[in-house]
Amino acid sequence: MSEQAIGVFDSGVGGLTVLHELRRLLQGENLVYLGDTARVPYGTKSPETVCSYAVQAAEFLLGERVKMIVVACNTASSFALDHLQQMLSIPVVGVILPGARRAARLSRGKVVGVIGTHGTVSSEAYPRALRALVPEITVASAPCPLFVPLAEEGWAEHPVAHLVAQEYLAPLLEKQIDTLVLGCTHYPLLKPTLRAVLPPSVALVDSAEETALEVKMRLSDLGQLNPGTRGQWKFYVTDVPTRFVQVGQGFLGEPIEPVTRVSLPICPSCEQELTS
Ligand code: DGL
Repeated sequence: MSEQAIGVFDSGVGGLTVLHELRRLLQGENLVYLGDTARVPYGTKSPETVCSYAVQAAEFLLGERVKMIVVACNTASSFALDHLQQMLSIPVVGVILPGARRAARLSRGKVVGVIGTHGTVSSEAYPRALRALVPEITVASAPCPLFVPLAEEGWAEHPVAHLVAQEYLAPLLEKQIDTLVLGCTHYPLLKPTLRAVLPPSVALVDSAEETALEVKMRLSDLGQLNPGTRGQWKFYVTDVPTRFVQVGQGFLGEPIEPVTRVSLPICPSCEQELTS
């Protein structure tokens, strides 16, 4: 067993959906969350930029002496997971593979839809993971960027969200998907809206839930689970915490405290890569 915390990072508030699932499943674990609120969104940025931000976030969490890092952000998992896993000596868990595994298991017709940010969709990380599991699978992807501000505005179940979902999902439904992966931190909040727009036969895969299961399994295999029931958490953000606290409460369903504002250390090799 280990009382060291699990480190979780995201571009901002969205990763709290993953934190929520971790807390539900692993009540004894101490959790440290970093939201890079000064630089959100990651979903529209280049792979190089997202990768350098992810390295800085991971280095910050290492300073907190975490036993594992969870990359809660789908965009950061798409672009930086391999790099982080090679670079760090502690386990690093992303959200792509757990979601893909579940989708591969659930899909009967082997036609899976994936929705995410522009970055996640253009990276092809989900189709790659799905094809590695089931070579004959068909994957139809669609970026759904407007779901992020809708969720943060508290409009996840608003008629506007319903209309937007109809537009975004129509091309996927034309391709006869039988399973839909929610490949973005914010999308679990839109589940009721998505459910209303999709035929009941389409299964929804929540990457946040699957990732929490994966974390539990990995910690158990490593003999590092904390069996207690009263894990603590703390939050770090890279901009003023006001909006993170307000919006985050809706995502987490619990008060967000304590929150500390930090600056992330710039990794010299990333800086060189970005300026060259
Ligand atoms: N956290 C991001 C993701 O899951 C969504 C928000 C952003 O674009 O930064 O891809």
